[in-house]
Amino acid sequence: MSIMQTRVEKFTSLQMLSKQAAEYISKIITQEINKKGWCTVVLSGGKTPQLTYEYLSRPEYAGNILWEHVHLFWGDERCVPPEDPLSNFNMVNTALLSKTTIPSDNIYPVQAKPEAAEQAARAYEEEIKDFFLVRGGEDLPCFDLMLLGMGTDGHTASLFPGDSILDEKQRLVCAVCAPDTIEPQRRITLTLPAINNTGRVLFLVSGREKKGVVEKILDNRKKAARFYPAARVVPRENLVWFINESNE
Ligand code: 6PG
Repeated sequence: MSIMQTRVEKFTSLQMLSKQAAEYISKIITQEINKKGWCTVVLSGGKTPQLTYEYLSRPEYAGNILWEHVHLFWGDERCVPPEDPLSNFNMVNTALLSKTTIPSDNIYPVQAKPEAAEQAARAYEEEIKDFFLVRGGEDLPCFDLMLLGMGTDGHTASLFPGDSILDEKQRLVCAVCAPDTIEPQRRITLTLPAINNTGRVLFLVSGREKKGVVEKILDNRKKAARFYPAARVVPRENLVWFINESNE
């Protein structure tokens, strides 16, 4: 059983963070393809990763990635139509997918139907299980790389503080309701069993208002896990934090 390694990189701007993140993602994808012939990446939503995806779409990165061997999933999705500006799929498609040669069969968006969120969660779980040939029991999917963000309340994906989903042990994907202050409220999210069986997690966190929570998590992850869902992320091999503490 490998001991998880944690690495923290601090940046002085979102631009520096995003460029480095594109380098890291491209390197891991190529490393995994060279090792076993394919790579699975779970993408994060929200605003922070958008510039990373735009960098990744540039020829100096996208041109060196064998997209036909890359399979993309989402860590969470808002229950809005895919063409909605609030859709995480829409954001990634605009910033990255539409500019690459990745086959559409390699893209696994969440079919997040607002009127049937629970069914959408179960369907996405089945899609992930089919991809990884997971047949229930102890078997878990093992994504190679997962990008995650963090909210000012320490939420990650759509795992929010105090939500009973944080104690979910069986399901891989669930429908949740975000706190009233967060729109859209209805979301589909990977659960911690699915997140923590990932090989590597790369957190992309930017903004002065998140600094305090990040410091508490890095100082004492176990204590912080009582309050901040992001502190409960413990991947199998590497946990990497790219942090921009400024608002630049
Ligand atoms: C989402 C994300 C969510 C996000 C954080 C940070 O769908 O919104 O999955 O977990 O990463 O809310 O969002 P920002 O990057 O916009 O601050």
